[in-house]
Amino acid sequence: MKCKICKRDAVVKLRAHNAAFCRDCFLNFFSRQVQRGIEQEHLCTKEDRILVAVSGGKDSLSLLFELTRQGYDATGLFIDLAIPASSESARATVEDFCARQGLKLHICEMKKEGLAIPDVKAALKRPVCSVCGKIKRHYFNRIAMEGGYTVLATGHNLDDEVARLFSNTLRWDISYLSCDGPLLPASGKFVRKIKPLWRLTEFETANYAFLTGIEPHIAPCPYSPGASFTTLKAVLQRLEYAMPGRKLDFYQGFIHRGRKGFENMEQDRGHPLHDCPECGYPTSGEDICGVCRIRHQLENREAEA
Ligand code: AMP
Ligand code: FES
Ligand code: ZN
Repeated sequence: MKCKICKRDAVVKLRAHNAAFCRDCFLNFFSRQVQRGIEQEHLCTKEDRILVAVSGGKDSLSLLFELTRQGYDATGLFIDLAIPASSESARATVEDFCARQGLKLHICEMKKEGLAIPDVKAALKRPVCSVCGKIKRHYFNRIAMEGGYTVLATGHNLDDEVARLFSNTLRWDISYLSCDGPLLPASGKFVRKIKPLWRLTEFETANYAFLTGIEPHIAPCPYSPGASFTTLKAVLQRLEYAMPGRKLDFYQGFIHRGRKGFENMEQDRGHPLHDCPECGYPTSGEDICGVCRIRHQLENREAEA
């Protein structure tokens, strides 16, 4: 197998692109896909101050590394959830990586915020994952706003995005389908959110991480029953195998043609937001926001104990 570009021995074969690449040409391909994804959807510019949420996984570490390589002003943000074994080693991975590469990094500790995830889990009667996701998104936004960042970037890749889109489509979830996509524009106290890896598959980011010497944290979260959308990802993988390139076509078709129809439907429904009287960030409920409510719940449990 020879590299499509330089004809040296290839190390990565990509059926969706009908191509194989050597190491250097694959890294160039990866950079071009990130750049195309950013430019095509107007995600960010070199003038933006980008906060990159890094979990220690291959996608978000690759994203922070690649944005910095391309000359973007990118800073990492790690949310330490205080989950035994898992958070500590993920944090060490992120800290070591950023120190070695000279990358800027913020750490935000949920324990100090009164929201250590094991305590949240103990206080809840339902699975902790969705609440944990809500807490992370709250802090992503809040730290970006308070730090004067213009954009918050996450490491979601094409497989994550297509699986989520497919899941929302199966449920015809209009409120998600109206805003799904690699760009969520800023609005009020919500900073702009972007997913610059949306054109790249999990296989491609894994190869990028491997070929650039990134050593990600790979242990799964002990509280998650499995990775998200496992079944849908497997179905989509079979589809992609039979019809290479279909995942990217489906996703691009949605953001360029499909989403518009759902946006129009959602506009009529309107969700009035108000500022949480406690943290000041927007919430759709009448009272304090969900994150402040959980924090109070934990404080009350502690006081009762
Ligand atoms: P996940 O939902 O775990 O697949 O993560 C999706 C994206 O959210 C990752 O690519 C990161 O950008 C971000 N992320 C997840 N967990 C954390 C964390 N603990 N700290 C910072 N960013 C995170
Ligand atoms: Fe939040 Fe596992 S990472 S519950
Ligand atoms: Zn609040």
